[in-house]
Amino acid sequence: MSSTLVTVSYIGATILFILSLGGLSHPETSRRGNTYGIIGMIIAVLATVAGPNVTASGYPWIIGAMLVGATVGLYAARIVKMTQMPELVALMHSLVGLAAVLVGFANYIDPAAAGAFKGAEKTIHEIEIYIGVLIGAVTFSGSVIAFGKLSAKISGKPMLLPGRHWLNLAGLLIVIWFGAQFINTHSVSEGMLPLIVMTVIALAFGVHMVMAIGGADMPVVVSMLNSYSGWAAAATGFMLSNDLLIVTGALVGSSGAILSYIMCRAMNRHFIAVIAGGFGTEGSAQAVGGAQAAGEVSPILAAETAELLREAKNVIIVPGYGMAVAQAQHTVYEITQHLREKGVNVRFGIHPVAGRMPGHMNVLLAEAKVPYDIVFEMDELNEDFPDTDVAMVIGANDIVNPAAQDDPTSPIAGMPVLEVWKARTSIVMKRSMASGYAGVDNPLFYKENNRMLFGDAKKMLEEVLVALMA
Ligand code: TAP
Repeated sequence: MSSTLVTVSYIGATILFILSLGGLSHPETSRRGNTYGIIGMIIAVLATVAGPNVTASGYPWIIGAMLVGATVGLYAARIVKMTQMPELVALMHSLVGLAAVLVGFANYIDPAAAGAFKGAEKTIHEIEIYIGVLIGAVTFSGSVIAFGKLSAKISGKPMLLPGRHWLNLAGLLIVIWFGAQFINTHSVSEGMLPLIVMTVIALAFGVHMVMAIGGADMPVVVSMLNSYSGWAAAATGFMLSNDLLIVTGALVGSSGAILSYIMCRAMNRHFIAVIAGGFGTEGSAQAVGGAQAAGEVSPILAAETAELLREAKNVIIVPGYGMAVAQAQHTVYEITQHLREKGVNVRFGIHPVAGRMPGHMNVLLAEAKVPYDIVFEMDELNEDFPDTDVAMVIGANDIVNPAAQDDPTSPIAGMPVLEVWKARTSIVMKRSMASGYAGVDNPLFYKENNRMLFGDAKKMLEEVLVALMA
């Protein structure tokens, strides 16, 4: 394939990747977005393999690597559960980081590359290698630790070394100093030492950064590492002089950063604090702040819940992490269908950080075939609760906690929440009085117009459905 054809293919693939990101921004178009992404990636791989930079002797290696990669990828995609997605994503990011490190070293020791660059070009090439290996190493070790924490192989508690910000600063200064040494060396053997020292420091920094983050806040870190992995891929693109990899890496890097920002805002966290690491050391599962709510709770039975639903005109369902754990989405939809047939206006209210990963609830509801036109973002229906007869909270807790608005000392103070307590009756479905992800008590449970339907969400909803059908 000629280099012109490769360039045309790369432009096509870039457009498809941009269309893919656009499609993935809405549940209704997400499948199409996914298809664009798949086609774009197939074009990108074929054009690269058939392009002028790959010789026939490389084909067996490439085909072998693709077979191994595709087998592992397919196997992982088949066995991984929805609740394990963040772990899988963390593991994938670590591979991008590792690839950037390996490409960097290979590029540096490549004898063909040694003579190809002179003067300023040589310096630029070495800076690309140095920065590429640096970002790759941080992404690799950070993602491995993130995987360990998410899968509970490493303790979820934040590990805070004394003077950790000074340690980070010292590491940064050493990396800059060795960077200057690296660029001023005259041979590969001389440059290896600064490159290796920097790699070790970058690996240690990745470990240190993620170890300092509370286990409960790991999903945000995964989206940050997603962004880092994009920049690592872009750096690899610079090293290999591959325009498509630069553009794709930049797309992943910037969209990951935007996603992290959106998640932070929805959780009332500071973006800069996340980038600096040490995020989640307050207000997470270890949180003790916030006034303790107290009082009597009013339990309700499934049959009584069915009665309230049957009499209602407007119902808003608020799903949370517990719905994912119980896999109750199909039963929720059966109840929704039944009520809609009886003329009840049923809508779903989705909080931006409901569950444990972005879009978690949307994916589950789409899987259960809930129509998109009755699924609303928090901001779209928060004002409608005063006109709602029943707000049904299914395995959600923090995202409906009024303390976020009423109690400035609460660890979740300022986090926007779904105002279910403004409905005529709110019903919270969960197994116990246990707190949610943020580890804080929920005054909603003690409100006069709130009822608690205790039990596993799926089991309780099945009982409600049976009572509705009766
Ligand atoms: P949570 O506040 O974690 O509450 C979930 C509730 O579900 C728990 O209180 C639990 O109570 C209940 N539950 C668990 N298993 C259940 C089952 N089988 N049946 C019924 N109930 C069950 O979840 P949320 O309201 O969805 O809020 C999400 C939280 O995660 C927020 O604090 C958010 O900041 C955080 N977070 C989310 C994300 C993303 S991207 N979504 C990322 C980072 C952090 P019981 O044990 O009593 O049943």
